[in-house]
Amino acid sequence: MSKHESAWLHVSGTARFTEDLTLDHPHALHAYPVQSPHAHAKVLGIDTTLAEKSEGVVRVLTAKDVPGENDTGISRRDEPLFPETIEYAGQAVVWVLAKTREQARIGAQLVKVEYEAMKPVLDLKDAIGQGSFHSAPIRMARGSIDQALENAEHLKEGELDIGGQEHFYLETHASLAKLDESGTMYVHSSTQHPSETQDIVARVLGVPRSEVIVQCTRMGGGFGGKESQSNPYASVAALGAKLTGKPVLVRLSRAQDTTLSGKRHPFHARYQIGFTSEGMLQALKLDLFADGGYSLDLSEPIVSRALFHSDNAYFIPHMQVTGRVCKTHKTSQTAFRGFGGPQGMVVIEHLMDLIARTLNLPPHEIRQKNFYTPEQTTHYGQQVTDAWKMNRVWEEALLRSHYLKRAEEIRAFNAQSKNPQNKNRVRGLAITPVKFGISFTMTAYNQAGALVLIYQDGSVQVNHGGTEMGQGLHTKIQAIAAKTLGLPTEKIKVMPTRTDKVPNTSATAASTGSDLNGGAVRNACETLKDRLLEVVAKFHKLEKAHLTLTDGAFWHGLEKLWTFEEAVRSAYYQRVQLFSDGFYATPNIHWDREKAAGRPFAYFAYGACVAEIELDPVTGMHQVLQVDIVHDVGESLTPSIDRGQIEGGFIQGMGWLTLEDLRWNDTGMLATRNASTYKLPTLMDAPDVFNVHLLENVPQEGVVFGSKAVGEPPLMLAIAVREALKDAIHTLTGHFADVPSPITPEVSFFASSLKKTHVLG
Ligand code: MTE
Ligand code: MOS
Repeated sequence: MSKHESAWLHVSGTARFTEDLTLDHPHALHAYPVQSPHAHAKVLGIDTTLAEKSEGVVRVLTAKDVPGENDTGISRRDEPLFPETIEYAGQAVVWVLAKTREQARIGAQLVKVEYEAMKPVLDLKDAIGQGSFHSAPIRMARGSIDQALENAEHLKEGELDIGGQEHFYLETHASLAKLDESGTMYVHSSTQHPSETQDIVARVLGVPRSEVIVQCTRMGGGFGGKESQSNPYASVAALGAKLTGKPVLVRLSRAQDTTLSGKRHPFHARYQIGFTSEGMLQALKLDLFADGGYSLDLSEPIVSRALFHSDNAYFIPHMQVTGRVCKTHKTSQTAFRGFGGPQGMVVIEHLMDLIARTLNLPPHEIRQKNFYTPEQTTHYGQQVTDAWKMNRVWEEALLRSHYLKRAEEIRAFNAQSKNPQNKNRVRGLAITPVKFGISFTMTAYNQAGALVLIYQDGSVQVNHGGTEMGQGLHTKIQAIAAKTLGLPTEKIKVMPTRTDKVPNTSATAASTGSDLNGGAVRNACETLKDRLLEVVAKFHKLEKAHLTLTDGAFWHGLEKLWTFEEAVRSAYYQRVQLFSDGFYATPNIHWDREKAAGRPFAYFAYGACVAEIELDPVTGMHQVLQVDIVHDVGESLTPSIDRGQIEGGFIQGMGWLTLEDLRWNDTGMLATRNASTYKLPTLMDAPDVFNVHLLENVPQEGVVFGSKAVGEPPLMLAIAVREALKDAIHTLTGHFADVPSPITPEVSFFASSLKKTHVLG
């Protein structure tokens, strides 16, 4: 069992999150936003006089206080920190600093803002109709699409709406900033991307990056929501600290967090799909429109990833997929576990079901026979050399779940659904695959650094560029360092992530945290190991190559030469350097943006999921009876953590696809701001039977210790639940379940009754 490196702190309630740092800074000021009630408006005037007189209020931060740039946009300058034009309901206009949070709240209520309201674009389809886009279309294509569609044996076309998702990390956005005596700004931030936070804070303050240090000890969840969107809060805290000389804390309430920060992109898809009478894919033409919200943020790479995954695991000879980032007056939608991949995959899985229902063939057969073979390439030109793994994962999932036998049993059960003891319920079963590309599609981001320090007593500190958000990265890093240095994990201390230990880091994202930072840490540890081996070999007059370092000692065969500590002490007195940096850059990846072709991914992660549900058409409610997952994590560094990622990712995906329903009111204000109105999955929604199996004997070549990324791919396993629900609806109506996502109980209810089909959508 691999124990999470902070397990004890977590369960004893002593792990510190950013807000808890105020325990050490009792005089920190609290910042509170004044949020716009309008989705689109001009700010005509701001009157802060009353607020400034209010008890405890120290200062109101406005645009004129910004010494550097009044903008925190990461892709372009489109996110003013203190805006003149309001672009979404809830946008922060100014921030009030006070001695207590309550005083800051009252102060914020006393700020008078005069607005001139303008007409907002709130609906994705309105944005498409009006041509409200952030950027040019992104396209990937191969073959001759129009001809192939024309000649297709069967042709289907239609549309699909896919809802967004609130991250609902347990810890909302938080930053604490303070100055040191030399004017260096220290920012503790709940951020997945400390280097970018450093960059944006420096930009807002108008200072070089060397004047700003960003630290992230841990996050209470990020899920992509803190990849780019922590920067404004860090900037407000830093600006406040600079102007007042006091530490400043920004910590959002849940309702502030959900109304200020971006979510998973809602998508609208338009498709034309051609296939043979045997169910072989011939051609796919797909237009994906993403609701990017008010600013560009990460929307372009997110839409790209949706296009990269619009094939999922299937070879489609002729393909043309086009993506557009639409501009609406909403929060700026952002990274969320899977980064657009899930939306792309929901569409193709929907279509595999459509093909099966059209041809009246079993969906699982249609899916499997369209899998890539190892000679084939994707629509962007990457060969799927280990496509055999997809088949292996799939076959194991079928076998372990007794898929065929249960399909029969379910058929028998459903035939009896009118039986009083079945209470009209019907069951649905589905299996869906996951093939997910690992690497940042922006090739330059695929680099990482580390700094490993061995002290004279043989104890070890590891610094690396990745951040801990509950995914267990630090635990994996600890395991990698321990394995390389031949030490027990307790001897390795993983330090908080800081920009002054490892510079120019990438976001901990794209599931690459352990591949990249683990690679860098291993590299640093190998350097140190080599130096120590040299010292030991020299002293014992032996060949370095004949020595091993394991179990805390240096060995020559079975003979223990020195303990690790003895070797370290000796190295010190011989003036051998006992610390090292390490670096890793993913080899053999490239991407030509213009041609939309290349080898953007180091490898693919594979998984398959079987889900069985029971639907009550009277209420639309369902229960997930059983889930069987087979997932490929290579040689797991920490099996219990990987299992946790698979279970957690699956449940999070299931919530997105079946429960979580973002709603905005007529003015564009988010209506589902809290857990009272936004339905999150709980333990009660977890499958009654939940089997997770890690594929065995599949070390991933070229990745640290044969391991494999696991953070995002399992989320998409939950598409099996959506497809199982559609299977039940199909059983009830005899028609292809042409339902949007999420399939909430309302959607199931209307779709299950023939008369009411298509009412929602
Ligand atoms: N797991 C937990 N518990 N909390 C999180 O915030 N984020 C996910 C995933 N698993 C997340 C998580 C996302 S979006 C990503 S990209 C990866 O973890 C990032 O970490 P890794 O690259 O180290 O896997
Ligand atoms: Mo994860 S969406 O790449 O932070």
